Amino acid sequence: MTDISKAGTYKLGDRTVKRLGYGAMQLAGPGVFGPPRDREAALAVLREAIASGVDHIDTSDFYGPHVTNQIIREALHPYPANLTIVTKISARRGDDGSWLPAMSPKELTQAVHDNLRNLGLDVLEVVNLRSMHGIHGPAEGSLKPQLNTLADLQRQGLVRHIGMSNVTATQIAEGRSIAEIVCVQNQYNIAHREDDALIDQLAADGIAYVPFFPLGGFSPLQSDTLASVAQKLGATPMQVALAWLLRRAPNILLIPGTSSVGHLRENLAAAELELPADALAVLNGIAGEARAA
Ligand SMILES: NC(=O)c1ccc[n+]([C@@H]2O[C@H](COP(=O)([O-])OP(=O)(O)OC[C@H]3O[C@@H](n4cnc5c(N)ncnc54)[C@H](OP(=O)(O)O)[C@@H]3O)[C@@H](O)[C@H]2O)c1
Repeated sequence: MTDISKAGTYKLGDRTVKRLGYGAMQLAGPGVFGPPRDREAALAVLREAIASGVDHIDTSDFYGPHVTNQIIREALHPYPANLTIVTKISARRGDDGSWLPAMSPKELTQAVHDNLRNLGLDVLEVVNLRSMHGIHGPAEGSLKPQLNTLADLQRQGLVRHIGMSNVTATQIAEGRSIAEIVCVQNQYNIAHREDDALIDQLAADGIAYVPFFPLGGFSPLQSDTLASVAQKLGATPMQVALAWLLRRAPNILLIPGTSSVGHLRENLAAAELELPADALAVLNGIAGEARAA
């Protein structure tokens, strides 16, 4: 079995977690809506993650909605003491599965209570405020009322740490003036590198950066360069994409998503994959190729 501790650790709030974690979004049904096709398989993925040493799981109550959190609870509760479950709030799902903003104080408070109930927790370790000013990417706009609500919930003891998601550097600065921000979760991967400067700044500030869509998301990464580097290293393209992220900056925590035990094992094995300097140089050019395509 892979030793995922080989990828190292980083701090998340007042805990230290392994840099290879797991993102639970793929456990709900198609389109992250409704129940999974195979509930037993979803439970098995979570149990395998924990058995493999994963101590950081990313989720949200709007996956399903409610479904993913209920599966996490069924598979893992009572939770191992070292498991950090990170959730996110500020969206809701329409009857057709659409992703809608839910950023009012009342909706945010309700979302925290929904997460607590469905996960079976008294306090949420980390809650990310997911900006819905932009649905598909960060868009400027104040998040002050939302952060104040979350800080209130923190003072009430329902939330231990606060993070932000789908946000700009300006919004993070605003967040840090209201509460301690322990992590930022934005879209980033080997081909999608808009956050390069932000990652370096957060690393200097000691804040975890947790890329979502580390494998490309709903359309997993496809690149001839990635495939040829992987072949030379005797690895898979997905493993190389994750190993590249681990090398990119020390504050990057990975939460690749999968609904399959086989893919989970494959992804966790990236912890042991070394990237020689020549491979790294080739891989660093992939973002330019993606822009040119
Ligand atoms: N803050 C936000 O706005 C936001 C948005 C999206 C996601 N997230 C979080 O980020 C986490 C990761 O994102 P994600 O799951 O959407 O995207 P991802 O990790 O980039 O990729 C998941 C996709 O890759 C496939 N996959 C996984 N491992 C594979 C492998 N070894 N070989 C081939 N295909 C593989 C999965 O299919 P299979 O199921 O078939 O393996 C799935 O289609 C989510 O779980 C969620 O917690 C946050």
